[in-house]
Amino acid sequence: QLSLREQLYEVLASTAQFYQHALRQSLGQTAMLYLKEHRQLNTETIQQFGLGYAPAGWETLYRYLVEDKHYPVQLVEKAGLIKPRKEGGGYYDVFRDRLMIPIRDIQGRVIAFGGRTLTEEQPKYLNSPETELFSKGKTLFALDHAKDGISKQDQAVVVEGYFDAIALHAAGINNAVASLGTALSIEQVRLLLRYTDSKQLVLNFDADKAGTIAAERAIGEIATLAYKGEVQLKILNIPDGKDADEYLHSHTAEEYQQLLANAPLWLNWQITEIVKDRDLRQATDFQKVTKQIVKLLQNIVNSDTLNYYISYCAEILSLGDARLIPLRVENLLTQI
Ligand code: UTP
Ligand code: MN
Ligand code: MN
Ligand code: MN
Ligand code: MN
Repeated sequence: QLSLREQLYEVLASTAQFYQHALRQSLGQTAMLYLKEHRQLNTETIQQFGLGYAPAGWETLYRYLVEDKHYPVQLVEKAGLIKPRKEGGGYYDVFRDRLMIPIRDIQGRVIAFGGRTLTEEQPKYLNSPETELFSKGKTLFALDHAKDGISKQDQAVVVEGYFDAIALHAAGINNAVASLGTALSIEQVRLLLRYTDSKQLVLNFDADKAGTIAAERAIGEIATLAYKGEVQLKILNIPDGKDADEYLHSHTAEEYQQLLANAPLWLNWQITEIVKDRDLRQATDFQKVTKQIVKLLQNIVNSDTLNYYISYCAEILSLGDARLIPLRVENLLTQI
């Protein structure tokens, strides 16, 4: 007798196969074309990530799993694949007419799905609900593929989107995982750090509003670790507001590696963010910026690091009026 978890793994694996099969049928033609033409993915990557297609009908998967394969309906519901109809009884498929991306655990077992619409339908991505096996805040997409790469490169790259991770792997950058659009939790970070000796983590979130908020939130989560030097955190913002997938459509893997190599440390990135859109010649802006910077620097424990950031900030803050530099440095020093 299989445990509930084992039964869930089984029904999810069976579902992934069903979706993969559908992608290769004529009903999956549009989805396949989307992957090959728009996403520029080859058969090997499509296979590697087990991408599939959920047919458009309301109960295609339900019929396959429950009627053909005789999985108990409650089990399929617990797997997050079907929902009971509000009226008239029966069940309907959660994922319909979507490109299906299996989400796997570290061992490579399917635990959930993300489904992208091929039309303008909202939401753009529909994800499995939280289940016995799937907890969004504890999962990192593509970690099963990335764990060896992270060990080898001794660095982990975290992107936001499914296709950012897929595109990076397709380009041979195999140390990338996706956070699934949420800010990174401390749990996810600890999971990643298991695989690197020097604890190097690069956050490459989208440069759009959602991405910047997610990056700020992730930094908030990780800051305590970062101040203690338990993680070497860098932030990569791709120029022109592109995400990694979009960037790789017109740039090489080497160019992306170059961006990674030049990514600023998180404190430098934070300082730039604080100063951004402020006019340092204005007293109010200057005071706000100084306050925020002092708040940022006061948690630095290593005195060499602190000295470095004090001079770095003094230089930035002096942009307004050169005569005030010594005053400002002094001001910073006394407040720290
Ligand atoms: P983005 O909006 O940046 O999507 O959200 P994307 O991955 O670049 O989308 P494409 O390239 O148009 O396909 C980043 C991630 O946030 C999650 C998904 O994991 C997505 O990849 N997300 C986004 C959702 O879960 N639901 C949504 O409706 C949107
Ligand atoms: Mn594209
Ligand atoms: Mn985005
Ligand atoms: Mn994006
Ligand atoms: Mn994208």
